[in-house]
Amino acid sequence: EKGTYPHFMLKEIDEQPFVIRKIIQEYQDENDSIKLDEDIRQAMNQTDRIYIIAAGTSYHAGLVGKQFIERLSNIPVEVHIASEFSYNMPLLSEKPLFIFISQSGETADSRSVLVQTKELGHPALTLTNVPGSTLSREADYTLHLHAGPEIAVASTKAYTAQIAVLAILAVDTAKAKGINLSFDPLKELGIVANAMESLTDQKDAFDRIAKDLFDTTRNAFFIGRGMDYFVVLEAALKLKEISYIQAEGFAGGELKHGTIALIEDGTPVIAISSQENVNLSIRGNVQEVAARGANTCVVSMKGLEQNEDRFVLPQVHELLAPLVSVIPMQLLAYYAALHRDCDVDKPRNLAKSVTVE
Ligand code: M6R
Repeated sequence: EKGTYPHFMLKEIDEQPFVIRKIIQEYQDENDSIKLDEDIRQAMNQTDRIYIIAAGTSYHAGLVGKQFIERLSNIPVEVHIASEFSYNMPLLSEKPLFIFISQSGETADSRSVLVQTKELGHPALTLTNVPGSTLSREADYTLHLHAGPEIAVASTKAYTAQIAVLAILAVDTAKAKGINLSFDPLKELGIVANAMESLTDQKDAFDRIAKDLFDTTRNAFFIGRGMDYFVVLEAALKLKEISYIQAEGFAGGELKHGTIALIEDGTPVIAISSQENVNLSIRGNVQEVAARGANTCVVSMKGLEQNEDRFVLPQVHELLAPLVSVIPMQLLAYYAALHRDCDVDKPRNLAKSVTVE
């Protein structure tokens, strides 16, 4: 039920801090360490390469998850769009482990990959919000997202839940391999939940920014580098699917290789800067588009901010920044759609779960 909320999407955006706290609870043992099935631990320990398979927003969460697993637990990871993988399977490693990420657990494109990989005899782990779903039943192992029912077609809380669970999985794997980490995901996720709450408490700011950026535009660009690049892909998908504004996410450095030709007076360009190593270079990209008349909006993380930034995010661990920087992107998309009188929860041509290939 929506309760007092005008839309499920807004309710689900607001639920994100609680979902993160629920995940901490569910994945924490009595010694404040990570609680995870021994079978999953072993599967992670035995593989020489992980293949993440997903679609849409879940694919975008997978891109972030790859960074966690590679950087923390040292296992190479490939992330694939399910519908491409089915028809164009890459050369597999000797001991592959497949990780399916799916809110609904019913996405046909992902299921068809699962069927193929099972035929080849490879182990599969599904991260899903619906434990009894097809992708959960047919995989060897399941990790539950604990996000609660997601009703709005545009995925919000499932995305952040997927990223949080992937961070926990990556750290658990690192520990099982004897890798010494100073990063405590359960503690850091607690900080993330508070940061998320402070953002959902400032909706008016995003309503105003959305008005300025999107009310009269036909297109919009989102740019980022490193981790922020993955979040801008999600930001663009969110804006497209509910507001019907043509939007694209780009790696900041790619703009000059073609896309910058599209920048005109007033074209909205939204940049995320949450990663210290690319802070200056993404700002260089913002200047390039500003010089061509773009209506720029930088959303930065505390510690990296500059005077002209439109919004400064509360500081969280750099690795977990996507969990926080995505909230303004979800809210901007929501308000853009609202200002255009779009059907926020049920955008045209889309279904909540895509059960056809
Ligand atoms: O249920 P799934 O996570 O497998 O769904 C995958 C995509 O269909 C889904 O994320 C879709 O892109 C959303 N509408 C995005 O908001």
